[in-house]
Amino acid sequence: MSSAVQPIIWDKDHLSLLDQRVLPHELTYLQCRSAAGVAHAIHAMAVRGAPAIGIAAAYGLVIDALQGRDYAAAEKVLADSRPTAVNLRWALARMAQVQPRTADTLLAEAKTIHAEDLAQNLKMGALGAALIAPGSRVLTHCNTGALATGGHGTALGVIRSAHAEGKLAGVYNTETRPWLQGARLTAWELMQEGIPAQLIADGAAAHLMKVQKIDWVIVGADRIAANGDTANKIGTYALALAAKAHGTKFMVVAPSGTFDLECPNGEAIPIESRTAAELTEFKGQPIAPTGMAAFNPVFDVTPRALIDAIVCERGVIVQPDVAKLRALLD
Ligand code: MRU
Repeated sequence: MSSAVQPIIWDKDHLSLLDQRVLPHELTYLQCRSAAGVAHAIHAMAVRGAPAIGIAAAYGLVIDALQGRDYAAAEKVLADSRPTAVNLRWALARMAQVQPRTADTLLAEAKTIHAEDLAQNLKMGALGAALIAPGSRVLTHCNTGALATGGHGTALGVIRSAHAEGKLAGVYNTETRPWLQGARLTAWELMQEGIPAQLIADGAAAHLMKVQKIDWVIVGADRIAANGDTANKIGTYALALAAKAHGTKFMVVAPSGTFDLECPNGEAIPIESRTAAELTEFKGQPIAPTGMAAFNPVFDVTPRALIDAIVCERGVIVQPDVAKLRALLD
């Protein structure tokens, strides 16, 4: 993404968020003037992506501190905005440690969290790209780019770095229904960067792997349990199964704030379910018959056995397990 476009901007006393619900055809900023307003923006997905919602939540605490509002109430409304991405709780926990707690010290910490995320992504970009052989074809899912983070991106950051090193022979990205983070956001970022890529329907991934050698599936994460099981955008698990069946390697790219060592395995990760209307309607227009029920989990868990490598800013874990995660993160 062009450095001229900033998705998360601290503006004196409030937060400006590039509204990701209307990208790529409208570039509109949403002004948030309370923690509750930031929580609403997170729940409504004006800002989304695990690291980005953690950064936005940190600034949300600053807004209420500046207004003299209750800290615990601000923390709670932000914590309750979305359940799966642990980066949100990680950022709130980090902000809670700031002493003395003033608007200035909180703002300094929020800015540090924001800047560190970019630095971590650049590190992961280099580490992940080092795993990719020249001439590789890669497939990614959802949006894990600058829009979803403090800049550069996690999985998309690895793709950016590998492209810059001239290693990629092909990039494919899924639409990512029902929110179309791939078709709207990843496609936009790839085009802005001049990275040649092809959009595929989610259902085309296994067929693509059969007819065209794909070397790596590269995805981000919303929460990585202590054993390496990984929650990410719905459809990730299906990609991992298809990858295993076709000899395609599977890479997860996530900063240390995405790991939850208190969560023993994927079964303990809370999975967000969203409204049926996300499936039965499109832009407010009905698609399914009126009254049709829907099952709409928006994340799934990929078991660690299907993951070849987890790339974190602290290093790379090959064939993840409890001992390797602890060794890297403790
Ligand atoms: O529902 P979203 O758009 O917030 O889901 C985003 C994802 O699943 C991403 O893959 C994940 O947060 C990693 S973003 C660097």
